[in-house]
Amino acid sequence: MIHGAPRADLSLGKDLLGLEHLSAQQIELILDTAEPFKEVSERAIKKVPALHGKTIVNLFYEASTRTRISFEFAEKRLSADTVNIAASGSSIEKGESLVDTARNLEAMRIDMVVVRHPASGAPKFLAERIPSNVINAGDGWHEHPTQGLLDLLSIRDKRGTLAGCKVCICGDILHSRVARSNIWGLLKVGAEVAVCGPRSLLPLGIEELGVHVFRRPEEAIEWADVLNVLRLQLERMVAGYIPSLGEYYRVYGITQQRLDRAPKDLLILHPGPMNRGVEIDSKVADGPHSVILHQVTNGIAIRMAILYLLAGGSPRSAQAARPAGEDRA
Ligand code: CP
Repeated sequence: MIHGAPRADLSLGKDLLGLEHLSAQQIELILDTAEPFKEVSERAIKKVPALHGKTIVNLFYEASTRTRISFEFAEKRLSADTVNIAASGSSIEKGESLVDTARNLEAMRIDMVVVRHPASGAPKFLAERIPSNVINAGDGWHEHPTQGLLDLLSIRDKRGTLAGCKVCICGDILHSRVARSNIWGLLKVGAEVAVCGPRSLLPLGIEELGVHVFRRPEEAIEWADVLNVLRLQLERMVAGYIPSLGEYYRVYGITQQRLDRAPKDLLILHPGPMNRGVEIDSKVADGPHSVILHQVTNGIAIRMAILYLLAGGSPRSAQAARPAGEDRA
């Protein structure tokens, strides 16, 4: 699918904190800028010189596989210098505050910070206090904007357009930053959005965001073009939100049997990590409807696009990205 040339007069500003406050045009700018970066990862030499000389810190206060590694690959493929800091093994364990950690990094003359934090709002708090670009890699229950964007790109790849597409987000919406970024992002670009899950795992007043609510996966499957299946975030649950994992799977699990009864083909997304046999059947996760690994591949292109745009890159130049070492004049 060929998309229009990105607009050169748009920018993202200093930071990427969430999708709630981005315009549809800014979201499309990121998706369109990611398109030429997809090809960089298919080359024998997976590198372009766009961020040569920039220093980026990946500051992760929570566990991560996909997001942290994907950011690191994106940074390295753009030729930036990268440093990874995890809470475990750093002075964060000795009680150093987020701002003190960041100010010490600033003193070492960094350019960007990618931050994952268990507290909602931590990236914004940081962005208001340091001059470096700040990118939210997931904050508490609030937002996970790069995941939302890679989900949008994956849907657009497979369906050609996001406008009018019917996307149902299934499962633990209450604790999900992925759900919030998807809802805000998808509605802005003209998709129809629904949620499906037990009442105890839906935020009160979710309908006010402009989403449909389905109580049963069968109804969601009949309505949707895309299901985005979420992990049950047991680590964030302090009360008995569900009777048991077995009961949850029986009533809400996205199973092959439920898809077999669906009237049409569906795309199945999952942000990972998956709990197979809890929210999703292995046959579905690995089956023909699944685009779960395509999402992971797209994560690198989306993160390259965001890093590149925040560093002041022109979307038109991204279209002409050339291998490292080539003269870009
Ligand atoms: N999707 C996602 O955020 O996965 P990780 O927690 O492994 O980064």
